[in-house]
Amino acid sequence: MAAPTNRAAWLTKAGTPLEVSDAPMPTAGPGQIVVKNAAIAINPLDWHMRDRGDFVQQWPAIVGCDVAGKVHETGPDVGRFKKGDRVIGHAINLVTGRPQDGAFALYTVLQADKAAILPDKVSFTDGVVLPIAIETAVCVLSLKVPGEVMPGVATPALGMPYPSLEEPVPSVNKTLVVYGGSSSVGSMTTQLATAAGINVISIAGAHNFDLSKRSGATEVINYKDATFVDKVVEAVRRTGHEFVGIFDAISIPETYANDLAILAQLGGGHLVCSHPPPSDVPVNVKPGMIFAVNDIATPVWKDYVTSALQTGKLQCLPPPTIVGNGLEYIQEALDKLKAGVSATKLVVTLQ
Ligand SMILES: NC(=O)c1ccc[n+]([C@@H]2O[C@H](COP(=O)([O-])OP(=O)(O)OC[C@H]3O[C@@H](n4cnc5c(N)ncnc54)[C@H](OP(=O)(O)O)[C@@H]3O)[C@@H](O)[C@H]2O)c1
Repeated sequence: MAAPTNRAAWLTKAGTPLEVSDAPMPTAGPGQIVVKNAAIAINPLDWHMRDRGDFVQQWPAIVGCDVAGKVHETGPDVGRFKKGDRVIGHAINLVTGRPQDGAFALYTVLQADKAAILPDKVSFTDGVVLPIAIETAVCVLSLKVPGEVMPGVATPALGMPYPSLEEPVPSVNKTLVVYGGSSSVGSMTTQLATAAGINVISIAGAHNFDLSKRSGATEVINYKDATFVDKVVEAVRRTGHEFVGIFDAISIPETYANDLAILAQLGGGHLVCSHPPPSDVPVNVKPGMIFAVNDIATPVWKDYVTSALQTGKLQCLPPPTIVGNGLEYIQEALDKLKAGVSATKLVVTLQ
């Protein structure tokens, strides 16, 4: 049998389309696996990297964060996986800068600690919606001590428990507001918070109430309702729980203004942002920005993801929309995501 060969959708220069061509065949170093990708998912970060070169450390680059496929090779000390295992994982080219660590290729290197076995009953196209969203949600919820994501900008430190396989999970009597509950990271944060016993009140469009409820939100408030800020405040008060704060998955000036209005009425709290937080906040507001590559997620990858998928406790939400089959479709998928999606994750299959 001929030796396998690799191809990738290369980013050769900021602001130019991806170019599909040959790529070196990656090998697995210590603590790593090589995955033959069956599906990859598209994230907003990817088109930021394509259009502006944000975070690109090495040109030409292979970017992309989410993969699902079969293990092709394991590194010398990797015991959790073997060749042929079905897996999902979070590719971290963002941090390493190495092309072989980008998802937009036929073969990708993953850190074994950022991967999990995908149960047979879950398809690659469903499973691939999960990886970066999982790591983001754990970074929103479970960091205990603030770090620094960029000069002067702290990471959040909510110190919440990890998600539990227990069913039902006991309440910790805390309520978190998730703003943008239909987004990929908002929906996953809702799922993992709920699985940690935290009550979630979600802010989402009326057309996406069902998704937010399926993710675990106990109440969903429509962000297009003129009085939604007051409705969120009333909903939090009704719980009688300790109010933790807001995860603003959208993090734009309009949402920040609403966040601060909610926090002002509820006596302050955490304001966890997916982008740099607003600079002028009252002293009772603790702003933070997530950076979704962090070893804090390792126990979730190792002990939670596979079992929770097996039992159905972890759901593949938002559902995928398949853009096409082949690396050539990644460019189109990036354009579609940049134009905006509603309650779905764009996926390209590679089979
Ligand atoms: N810092 C990090 O480490 C990190 C990690 C991951 C993601 N991010 C960032 O997090 C953001 C979300 O990423 P994602 O992949 O989750 O996005 P996404 O799934 O593509 O977000 C789309 C969803 O956002 C909703 N939405 C848009 N504007 C809204 C608003 N004003 N209020 C409420 N909902 C709104 C849309 O709902 P409608 O249908 O109602 O329009 C849609 O369902 C991106 O900016 C991404 O770059 C940051």
